[in-house]
Amino acid sequence: MRKLKIFKNKKILITGHTGFKGSWLSLWFKSLGADVLGVSKDIPTYPSHFKLINLEKKIKNKFFDITNLRKLKKTFVNYKPDYVFHLAAQSLVKKSYRDPLLTYQTNTIGTMNVMECLRSLKNDCIAIIITSDKSYKNLEIRRGYREDDILGGIDPYSSSKASAELIIQTYFKSYLIKKKISKLQSLELEMSLGVEIGLKIV
Ligand SMILES: NC(=O)c1ccc[n+]([C@@H]2O[C@H](COP(=O)([O-])OP(=O)(O)OC[C@H]3O[C@@H](n4cnc5c(N)ncnc54)[C@H](O)[C@@H]3O)[C@@H](O)[C@H]2O)c1
Repeated sequence: MRKLKIFKNKKILITGHTGFKGSWLSLWFKSLGADVLGVSKDIPTYPSHFKLINLEKKIKNKFFDITNLRKLKKTFVNYKPDYVFHLAAQSLVKKSYRDPLLTYQTNTIGTMNVMECLRSLKNDCIAIIITSDKSYKNLEIRRGYREDDILGGIDPYSSSKASAELIIQTYFKSYLIKKKISKLQSLELEMSLGVEIGLKIV
């Protein structure tokens, strides 16, 4: 817990802050004394955890689509975040079958836009980009998937997240590592599929 003090007064930009995980993460960072700015397109559910905890009044909020690169870049450059948590996504497999274009636009191009914004930042920043265990090829095995497993994905959601993984790796290796955003390695994020969100500082 003592180590969590590092987040006090830090600027934390969270995309997808109105969603299931983003609303918990925003509340948690707020309780640690961080300055939190959330970016989301909408409030995706009713009832909504974001609404129930009155998060809109507790943190800074912006409502727009992350596929709008101009708005997103302006937000990053003006806010100068110390940490970015990218969670915004079309997160439903069933919906991805109905609307593959929206799914790729949000999950793949949206993530690329976030990477592009990180590239344009002048300040040091630690970025945590959330994809999914579904981005790995389904090998029908019992163990959980590891980061060096082969990417895959039959449905549009999984494939959009696997595509985002490739983009993240490319941006990291081609641009961000040179900007020393490799501090990422000092943070290990554990996000379970349930309610828990834990941040382990190693
Ligand atoms: N919940 C899970 O079980 C689970 C499992 C694995 C991975 N994930 C990933 O974790 C992240 C968060 O998941 P969640 O369950 O909280 O999602 P959610 O559906 O509850 O929330 C999605 C959030 O993204 C925002 N969003 C969607 N499209 C957007 C756009 N075009 N522009 C801006 N904001 C947009 C929504 O407004 C909302 O804030 C996602 O990347 C998801 O793919 C979730």
